[in-house]
Amino acid sequence: MVKKFTFNNPIPTKAVVADIKASNDKLLYFEYKDNSFVYTMSDSACVYGLGEAVRGINKRGWIYEGYCSDDPNHSEDKRSLYGAHNFLIVDDKSSGGDRFGVFFDYPARITFDIGYTDSSKLVVSVDKADLDVYIIEGETLREIVKNFRAIIGMSYIAPKWAFGFMQSRWSYFTKDDVVRIADSYKEADIPLDAIFLDIDYMERYKDFTINDERFPDFAKFVSYMKARGIRLVPIIDAAVKVEDGYDVYEEGKKNNYFCKDENGDDYIVGVWPGKTVFPDFMNEEANKWFGDKYKFLTDMGIEGFWNDMNEPAIFYSEKGVARAFEEIEKYKNIPLDANTFFDCRDVFSRLSNSQEDYNSFYHNYDGKIYKHNDIHNLYGYFMTKSASDAFRRNNPEKRTLLFSRASYIGAHRYGGIWTGDNHSWWSHILLCLKQMPSLNMCGFMYSGCDIGGFNGNCTKDLLLRWLSLSIFTPLMRNHSACGTKDQECFAFGDTESFKNIVDLRYRLLPYIYSEYMKATLSNDMYIRPLSFDFEDDEMAKTVEDQLMVGDSIMIAPVYTQNAKGRYVYLPENMTAIKLNNDGTITESEIKKGHHYIEVALDEVMFFVREGRCVPLCNRADNVDSIDENTIKLYGSGDSYELYTDDGYTTTPTLSNIRTLTK
Ligand code: GLC
Repeated sequence: MVKKFTFNNPIPTKAVVADIKASNDKLLYFEYKDNSFVYTMSDSACVYGLGEAVRGINKRGWIYEGYCSDDPNHSEDKRSLYGAHNFLIVDDKSSGGDRFGVFFDYPARITFDIGYTDSSKLVVSVDKADLDVYIIEGETLREIVKNFRAIIGMSYIAPKWAFGFMQSRWSYFTKDDVVRIADSYKEADIPLDAIFLDIDYMERYKDFTINDERFPDFAKFVSYMKARGIRLVPIIDAAVKVEDGYDVYEEGKKNNYFCKDENGDDYIVGVWPGKTVFPDFMNEEANKWFGDKYKFLTDMGIEGFWNDMNEPAIFYSEKGVARAFEEIEKYKNIPLDANTFFDCRDVFSRLSNSQEDYNSFYHNYDGKIYKHNDIHNLYGYFMTKSASDAFRRNNPEKRTLLFSRASYIGAHRYGGIWTGDNHSWWSHILLCLKQMPSLNMCGFMYSGCDIGGFNGNCTKDLLLRWLSLSIFTPLMRNHSACGTKDQECFAFGDTESFKNIVDLRYRLLPYIYSEYMKATLSNDMYIRPLSFDFEDDEMAKTVEDQLMVGDSIMIAPVYTQNAKGRYVYLPENMTAIKLNNDGTITESEIKKGHHYIEVALDEVMFFVREGRCVPLCNRADNVDSIDENTIKLYGSGDSYELYTDDGYTTTPTLSNIRTLTK
């Protein structure tokens, strides 16, 4: 079912955990020539996958790159975002053509031209053909995903509390700010499970420090918040501040744990704290050392983290700045014309995340020295591994929440991801919707986007509609950038509408958690395109704004401003479940086909498949206080298979399923 084809000398990525011998047969489906793999697509073939990327669920018609990129503008013309997820599925089975999955295990930049240059050609190109290509077959699309996921290992499982609603902002600067957020949610009676601490909780952006003036007696504060039912989740950045006397820097320097330049000196770049160095996560000893540092925070009661800036993001390097000052000199005394003006203007903006920098530092990986750019996509992945391994070592009895910005397939075993710095744009609700199933294909099960949008100002209607989608994503976090308008659920005056929608998340939580766990434990997808459930339905293949969530639900969120509803395609008869604005639920049967449905801003509608059920319980203040005894089943079926556990066991099994009947 899975065949491996090895080209030359691949750099080990540890993405695949199954022991598969390379085949001597001719490569299947693709023609290989001059560092390119070419597959000829029939007109009707769909191409799925690539995890975190822009554009459609069907990836045909654009050119993408697997290259972890710190880019805050997720516009349609981008080729890469923060994750490099090189897995694709080509499907033309319903027209009698091919159906297969393919994983290009390659840690450097890789290009996927999916009918962009020539609409019938899928061309995958690399600079140096040192890679493993895995061809994955299966009867159904879901089976191909399962067969792929079986070889890359089981996905990370988040603790149950992390399925609650979480609030974030860059930044809640002080302890009082955090308390104010918790109080305001309480006052509005909107459930909340966590508040995030962005970079300002640290002392001058130094990892594994606390700013004692802003957060005095941190451990006590963590337990005070937990007693109120709210966990605190601090950020950890990849780069370490260069500062004499700062223990993390001193230890890393002494032990050669930082990435080096071509002379063997620590490579110095600028990130949030100013001058910083990169821990060499590829070096096993350094990896373990950095992971153990999280203990500083877990010892104070912290149970979750988000890892950031790990593409790694570089604002500038010392060498780059020196070069830029030299270059700018040449424009000083010349009259600027159209070309020179733009060149001159860009001298400094080109400094960030430059290829020159990515080609100028080195890792010590498995005893060999590698230039960063040759293994660029592994950096964030190994940062996530570093933290996750340490949690398993130091807190083996409980799951710890962990998600990252940068990732590569393999990282899915160690943590979830969020989709980075999106915008408060209506089109980004839809982008989030499209990214979720593609991420599931690649193993990233615990994922979500910044609800309300990170950059830019959010409006009440945008946040309400965004929440109505995100109540179905495992990670449900509202986050926004510094300088943007307040975007908490109480920031827009009327809190009732927000309460109604966030309450629904908690009423659905037994289902969401159960479906997430069942899917994760069986290498299946929790969120899927419609075509994965209705393979022979030609219409389902074209639907890019509806999703299947778990085995019972289909969602069709409203994602345009001023809309009072939307058109929905039902591939079979379904039960429409409507959350009314007074918190009541109405059920109605809808026939297969196209329908216009009305959904007010403070209401949610979703659909339950024919013969299936969805459990809904009473709303709760947080995940820990959900009462499963209040579950009632909705939909046309008679029973539901509920997975349930204590929410933190590190050895969950499918034996935790029980049948609920009407
Ligand atoms: C990056 C992260 C964002 C965070 C900010 C400050 O832009 O993606 O989530 O708020 O850094 O730490």
